[in-house]
Amino acid sequence: MSTLMGHVYEFCDQFSRAWECSREFGSAAGELPAGKLLLCGMGGSACAGDIAASLSVLMNSTLPVTTLRGYSLPASTGPETLVVAVSYSGGTEETLSALEDAERRHLPIAVVTGGAALQDWAGERGHPCYPIAYEAPPRHALAWMLPPVLRVASRLGGWELDDRAMATALRRAQGRLAELHAQAVRLADFLDDRPVVVVSAEHLAPVARRWKNQLNENAKHVAFADELPEGNHNSIMGIEYPLSGRLSMVFLCSSLFHPRVQKRMQIAPSLMEVGTNLVTVIEVPGDDPLEQILCSIMLGDLFSLEVARKHGTDPTNIDRIERLKLLLA
Ligand code: PA5
Repeated sequence: MSTLMGHVYEFCDQFSRAWECSREFGSAAGELPAGKLLLCGMGGSACAGDIAASLSVLMNSTLPVTTLRGYSLPASTGPETLVVAVSYSGGTEETLSALEDAERRHLPIAVVTGGAALQDWAGERGHPCYPIAYEAPPRHALAWMLPPVLRVASRLGGWELDDRAMATALRRAQGRLAELHAQAVRLADFLDDRPVVVVSAEHLAPVARRWKNQLNENAKHVAFADELPEGNHNSIMGIEYPLSGRLSMVFLCSSLFHPRVQKRMQIAPSLMEVGTNLVTVIEVPGDDPLEQILCSIMLGDLFSLEVARKHGTDPTNIDRIERLKLLLA
């Protein structure tokens, strides 16, 4: 089994450890005076923020939770906002710039990182810091980035996840791993060598984006993510030129979506089978949102690695991203 595949197989186990280890960080950061939460990060690290934000909405939390992928905080960010920087490496310039911006404005700050320099920076200033010690490409360290972010979002938002619910979701998701891997192999075969569009909604919309990113980085494959109901007002028309009949589409559906979104998920796929487009609808397993998120993350990760295997490409190689960083330096 490849190293990255190993990270997926360990995902629930690592998540469970990180959940345990992040308790103290959750209390420290969750006690900071804040009525809003802004999660700053890029790529694999930003995914943790997106998921926390979507779960907050699903839990009817009144705490506004948003993700920032960029250099500067919006001018509207006031002192009531807790800024949590999430960066596996601790060296991502956009995230560091947003953090400096938060520091300049004297906002409450917390940090989740594996980078020693950023850990020191937070320590010297007395900002709560959750250190990551798991060795993996950033996108495959999500199991260590999401739990601390969930702890802060749920604590501040008043929907604290209890340990039992977390353990149950992780155990059930882990129990489905073999089934998910078999499904990922079938999907990689079925979707053929075509650009992939991943469509989802609500708490699974961030997962659709992760599928796209994992297909891009691990498999070097052209992929896009789309979200319903918005996509029903535009993307549903944008499939005729120039790729008509050459797209693969995956719809990630959930029994927990708003009933009208579920209905759209039933109707829209058949309308998008234009020409020889390939469309597949996946009913994401699980009874609760967290279990569904865990299952669909693992399915997407495995799918991207199976596509990488088919292409014969090294999923750890991100040379163009590294070259770009060098050119920007
Ligand atoms: O998954 C990856 O490797 C990237 O998408 C990174 O997450 C992204 O470049 C940001 O880096 P970091 O997570 O170290 O801040």
